[in-house]
Amino acid sequence: MILILLGPPGAGKGTQAALVSQQAGVAHVATGDLFRENIRNQTELGKQAKAFVDRGALVPDELTVRMLLDRLDRPDTQKGVLLDGFPRTVDQAKALDDALKGRGQAVDKVLYINVGEEEVIARLGGRWTCRQCGAVYHQVFSPPKTPGRCDQCGGELYQRDDDKPETVRNRLSVYTQQTAPLVDYYRQAGKLLEVNGEQNAEAVGKDLLKAAGLS
Ligand code: AP5
Ligand code: MG
Ligand code: ZN
Repeated sequence: MILILLGPPGAGKGTQAALVSQQAGVAHVATGDLFRENIRNQTELGKQAKAFVDRGALVPDELTVRMLLDRLDRPDTQKGVLLDGFPRTVDQAKALDDALKGRGQAVDKVLYINVGEEEVIARLGGRWTCRQCGAVYHQVFSPPKTPGRCDQCGGELYQRDDDKPETVRNRLSVYTQQTAPLVDYYRQAGKLLEVNGEQNAEAVGKDLLKAAGLS
């Protein structure tokens, strides 16, 4: 099963990904996480991606698609995958459709988490992420039990460089211009399932599972 989580920065894609991928029995693949891992490890890909990620721009399609398809070749994706943060342009969506076709597969469902701009800005300003396991917290909406420490693994929490206000603004305008057209792309393909993202995380999770037929 090939599932896509679509929505603006801060919509809650990363927050909901563990629940949805576990229920579906598929691997969670987040291109943002893959880029951050490559940047941290100073790989060749990381060096090329860094300047784009730092200013909240999209990494060029060619690099991104190649990285994603390499990831889909790993054995843990055999039962399927939940894509988080990919595709982000119509060209990426077409490249994905082509690559899946070549494997006798297709995108099954696109879960669109709809959240307005003001809410997203409030969320990203207070986000803390675990350095070790990637779990996501919010200083007001979902604080960790011990400040600065991950509830799940005890890892150190940090604030992402691209959550600075000016970078967030840029990420939002990039979303509106380049990624929002995917809502229509997948609606026309009859694959779009929309969920109201402006509820608490638990309610959003329930709605996602229901929409995807996983509950
Ligand atoms: P990426 O890491 O994908 O960032 P993003 O899309 O901007 O999404 P976020 O991770 O910021 O938001 P999210 O929806 O996961 O929200 P979260 O669950 O954390 O990409 C980063 C960069 O990598 C891009 O800018 C680009 O440079 C590059 N990149 C990645 N993919 C690419 C691609 N395909 N092509 C080209 N470039 C690419 O939640 C946010 C906060 O809200 C948290 O604090 C959370 O606790 C809180 N929260 C979540 N849900 C709720 C709720 N229901 N109520 C209250 N608070 C909530
Ligand atoms: Mg995320
Ligand atoms: Zn952790």
